Amino acid sequence: MFTKPQLLQLPKIVDPRGNLSFFESPRQLPFEIARTYWIYDVPGGEIRGSHAFKEQQEFIVALSGSFDVVLHDGNEEIKFSLNRSYYGVFIPKMYWRRMENFSTNALALIVSDKHFDEQDYIRDFEEFKLLKNG
Ligand code: TYD
Repeated sequence: MFTKPQLLQLPKIVDPRGNLSFFESPRQLPFEIARTYWIYDVPGGEIRGSHAFKEQQEFIVALSGSFDVVLHDGNEEIKFSLNRSYYGVFIPKMYWRRMENFSTNALALIVSDKHFDEQDYIRDFEEFKLLKNG
């Protein structure tokens, strides 16, 4: 089980008919998937996210186009630029995250180990830092 954010390279089955990639748990993904959602039609310059989760873990893939996943651990930021559909970012619980710099036609696929629960969100950055750093 990863405790830090990770860029994971996914299998890529190269084929003249078109390439294919996949992930499944537990082989590529360190959790069982409970929910899948996707973000699309993002206008230029918009930012999604800007929150953390108390318990939920996520895995984000740029199925199309590109965007940045910026994570904050309470002390410093780390940025993952996604622009290939055979890479994804694993985000453990308790990382502040935002998604930005979306290209035209970017499609973000996000899988989570939890069902949707507004109570699991931390939407205040100061509260996040207090909880994270004790
Ligand atoms: P939110 O997670 O706040 O979006 P962002 O990616 O910008 O952080 O979700 C936006 C809205 O969509 C919010 O009202 C909750 C709702 N929502 C669901 O109902 N189910 C879901 O699985 C998700 C991710 C969001």
